[in-house]
Amino acid sequence: MSELTITRVWSREVLDSRGNPTVEAQVETDAVLVTAIAPSGASTGTFEALELRDGDARYGGKGVQKAVRNVRELISPRLKGMDVSDLKAIDAAMIELDGTGNMSRLGGNATTAVSYAAAKAGAILKGIELHEHLGSSSKVLPVPCMNVINGGKHAGSNLKIQEFMIVPCGVPSFSESLRVGTEVYQSLKGVLKKSMGPMSINVGDEGGFAPAFDTSRQAMDVLLKAIEAAGYAPGKEVYLAMDAAASEFYSKGVYELDGRKMSSGEIVDFYVSLSKEYPLISLEDPVQEEGFQDMAELTAKVGGRMQLVGDDLFVTNPQRLRKGIDSKAGNAMLLKVNQIGTVSEAMRAAEICFDHGYNVMVSHRSGESEDTTIADIAVALECGQIKSGAPARTERTAKYNRLLRIEENLGSKAKFKGRGAFF
Ligand code: PGA
Ligand code: ZN
Repeated sequence: MSELTITRVWSREVLDSRGNPTVEAQVETDAVLVTAIAPSGASTGTFEALELRDGDARYGGKGVQKAVRNVRELISPRLKGMDVSDLKAIDAAMIELDGTGNMSRLGGNATTAVSYAAAKAGAILKGIELHEHLGSSSKVLPVPCMNVINGGKHAGSNLKIQEFMIVPCGVPSFSESLRVGTEVYQSLKGVLKKSMGPMSINVGDEGGFAPAFDTSRQAMDVLLKAIEAAGYAPGKEVYLAMDAAASEFYSKGVYELDGRKMSSGEIVDFYVSLSKEYPLISLEDPVQEEGFQDMAELTAKVGGRMQLVGDDLFVTNPQRLRKGIDSKAGNAMLLKVNQIGTVSEAMRAAEICFDHGYNVMVSHRSGESEDTTIADIAVALECGQIKSGAPARTERTAKYNRLLRIEENLGSKAKFKGRGAFF
């Protein structure tokens, strides 16, 4: 038996960054034992792969013992004997074993953890870095899109827009970008504390501050102040990005945002205005998850000068992505492996994006862990962008720190697209 042969896949329940249970998978061969942890969203899209939760008395119903059992009792016997370096075959075997099309039998949390662990084990056994295992000649480090003001489901304020990000893309390297973004984060902390008091620097799920703002413009204005106070120019070194996660404030044809009720036509105009007032380089889920037409309308209006990203709209799903491409909705996809359930399928969705001129932003979830697989996926795809929250809270910085190591390891071969990753 080769040392690449899977001997067992084990699993256990561990905790995520929000104190909820999640699935850790452990892929074993005669030579290695490798673990990986699935993340978990809060503002999950309706069309995501199913995250299997026990729904019993433990952990308020959020236990994942069923998913853990599925790894031990169903996935393990199926993958036993397979070559761990052949991730596509492993992922295809899990998709076939599940048989439902949305991982509702095995659980997308179970399959994501196994797919991550198998990817890592394959890299270790081949003696190469994970990003090289996933993308043979990968050298491009991503721009960190840092969510420094948290709203929506990730915070306790009235701010309806979920994420206000800084995008330090006007600098020459990943490490410089991370430094500039982190300096702006610290500057923002000072600006908020001074103007709104110490309560305003409490942080939300993704490490961004959660001040008592009521409107989007309040958040954008304070970001401009913080960028300038840190010694940078908005629209030069540092741009802004937003994830509206609009399904969360949409109901029956009406968006309730910034103290107003808006129709889909009105909300499209609202974003067009924001894009003229601020150096906004990327806007994610501006409309609800079925709003392909509205997304197409917004793309026609501003898509020539900024990125429009589908998260809940596309859910990293090749089928939904194709629908988006056909209707010219958006020009970028957010990539979250647990939305589709395997690394291979997520990377296939990314390939479809590249074939059709769509950008890809690799993303964490609001519930995360010490696992850093997404950092390597971003480098492997050479997509040039990642979002992993603020430069605070270890589950967020773990990804950025992994990217620092990759950059150092690549040395003079490391590349950085900066603003070019967007436009
Ligand atoms: P989620 O948020 O992980 O709670 O879905 C992240 C996002 O919407 O991009
Ligand atoms: Zn999103």
